Amino acid sequence: MKKEPQKKIPTSKVKRASKILGTGAKVGVNYVKHYTKKLVDPSLSKEDLHQANASDIYDTLSELKGSALKVAQMMSMDDQVLPKAYQEKFALAQYQAPALSYPLIIKTFKKHFDVAPNELFDSFSKEAVHAASIGQVHLAEKNGQKLAVKIQYPGVADSISSDLKLVKPLAGRLFNMNTRDLNHYLEEVESKLIEETDYLLELERGALIGDKSQSLNGLVFPKYYKEKSSKQVLTMDWIDGVPFGDFCKSEKEDKARNEVGQNLWDFFLFQMKHLRLVHADPHPGNFLITKDNKIGVLDFGCVKEISEHFASNYFELLRPSTLDDQEKLNTIYQEIQFFRKEDTEEDKKKLREIYHESLALLAKPFHQEQFDFGDPAFFNAIFKMGENLSKDKSIRKLNNARGSRDALYVMRTFFGLYNLLHQLKAKVSLNYPLYD
Ligand SMILES: Nc1ncnc2c1ncn2[C@@H]1O[C@H](COP(=O)(O)OP(=O)(O)O)[C@@H](O)[C@H]1O
Ligand SMILES: [Mg+2]
Repeated sequence: MKKEPQKKIPTSKVKRASKILGTGAKVGVNYVKHYTKKLVDPSLSKEDLHQANASDIYDTLSELKGSALKVAQMMSMDDQVLPKAYQEKFALAQYQAPALSYPLIIKTFKKHFDVAPNELFDSFSKEAVHAASIGQVHLAEKNGQKLAVKIQYPGVADSISSDLKLVKPLAGRLFNMNTRDLNHYLEEVESKLIEETDYLLELERGALIGDKSQSLNGLVFPKYYKEKSSKQVLTMDWIDGVPFGDFCKSEKEDKARNEVGQNLWDFFLFQMKHLRLVHADPHPGNFLITKDNKIGVLDFGCVKEISEHFASNYFELLRPSTLDDQEKLNTIYQEIQFFRKEDTEEDKKKLREIYHESLALLAKPFHQEQFDFGDPAFFNAIFKMGENLSKDKSIRKLNNARGSRDALYVMRTFFGLYNLLHQLKAKVSLNYPLYD
C-alpha cells in the first residue's frame, strides 16, 4: 500500500498536540465501542480492540513522524510488553510512513548546500526509494557511483521534547509505569533521539565503527561523503543487496545463514567488548545482504557508548561462574540498581530468584561454545517467562523500573540481535565472550 506524499509535516506544537490528543480520544472511543460490542458479541477478543487502537495510534504517529514514530518503533521491538496487534502495526513504521514531496526536498537542499539536488549530483531520484522514521532515502549518482542520500524531515529535531511529553501518558498506559519511573528512562530516550537527528554525528560514528571493524569477516560499510552531507542530509555509497528479512525467508542453505549469523554476532560482540561503542538499532531494516552474503551495515543514527562501569558489572553477569556466586551477584545488583534502597530482605529474596531465572535463560548463548538461535524452545521459554512475570502481582510491584538507564539501549540491542539471529535460524560460536 503506497501512501500519497505529504506536502507538509504538522510542526507547530499546537497542531502536534491536537493530533496526539486526538489519538488518545480515539483510543478511548475504541474502548467504549469494544465494551458495548462485547455486550452483544461476547466472543469478541481483546485482540480486536488492540487492532483498532494500534491502527489509530499508528496513523497519527506516522503522520507526525519524528520522535513519536521512533518511540512507537522501539515499543514494537519489545515482545514482552506490547500486544501483538501493536507490534505488527508499529513494525510497519520503517516501511510505510508517507513521503515528502520534491519541492520540499529542493528547499532543504538549497538551505544546506545553496543548490538543488540535480546540481549536486549527476542524477537524483525525485521520489524517495525508502521512507523511514525520521528521514527518507533517495537514490543518486555521481561520477558513475551509486549513492544513497538520506534526507531528514524538517522540524524533527525541534519537536522531540514536546513529542515525548505528549507520548508520555500513552506510553505510561501501555507500559503500566508511573511518571517518575517513566521519566527515568525517557530522559535517556530523549538524549538518544536528539543525537539521532544529527546526521553529521551519524556520519562520524558510522565511519569510525566501519573503520575499526575492518578486521572482521563478511561486513560492508558504506563510505560517507562529508562535503555532500549536513546535519539533515547524509550522503553515502549505495549498497546493493536484499533486505535482511527477505534473505532470511528465501535462503535455504544452512551454511549461508550460519555464516551471516556468525558474522553479525561477532560484529556486535566485538563492538561491545573492544570498541565500547555499539550500533544500538539492530532491526531488519538496517541490514542488507549482498550477492556474496556480506552484511551491509546501515544507519548509525543510534549508537550507544558502553562505560567501564557498565561493562564491569553487566558483562560480568554473563560469566557462567557468576551465577553460582551469590556474594558477587549481590554486589553487582547493588551497583546497577537492581536492588533499591527501599527493598526489604523479603523483596530482595524474591528479586534474587527472578534475576537468577532471567539471567540463566537470557545469558544462555554466553554459557556454551555454540548456540542455536533457531531453537524455538529458547524463545518460547523467554516468552513464557515474560508472561509469568507480568501476571504475578507481587512481582509487578517490585518489577518497576529497575536497572540503570544506561541498560535500556544495550538491552534493546541484545533483544534486536537475538531476534535477527532467530530469524536467520543461525548456529553461532562464542568468539567474543564479553567479560575479560
Ligand atoms: N547506503 C544505502 N544503500 C542502500 N539502501 C539504503 C542505504 N541507506 C539506507 N538505505 C535504505 O533506506 C532505509 C532507511 O535508511 P536508514 O539509514 O535506516 O534510515 P533511518 O535512520 O530513518 O532508519 C534502509 O532501511 C534501507 O532500505
Ligand atoms: Mg533505519
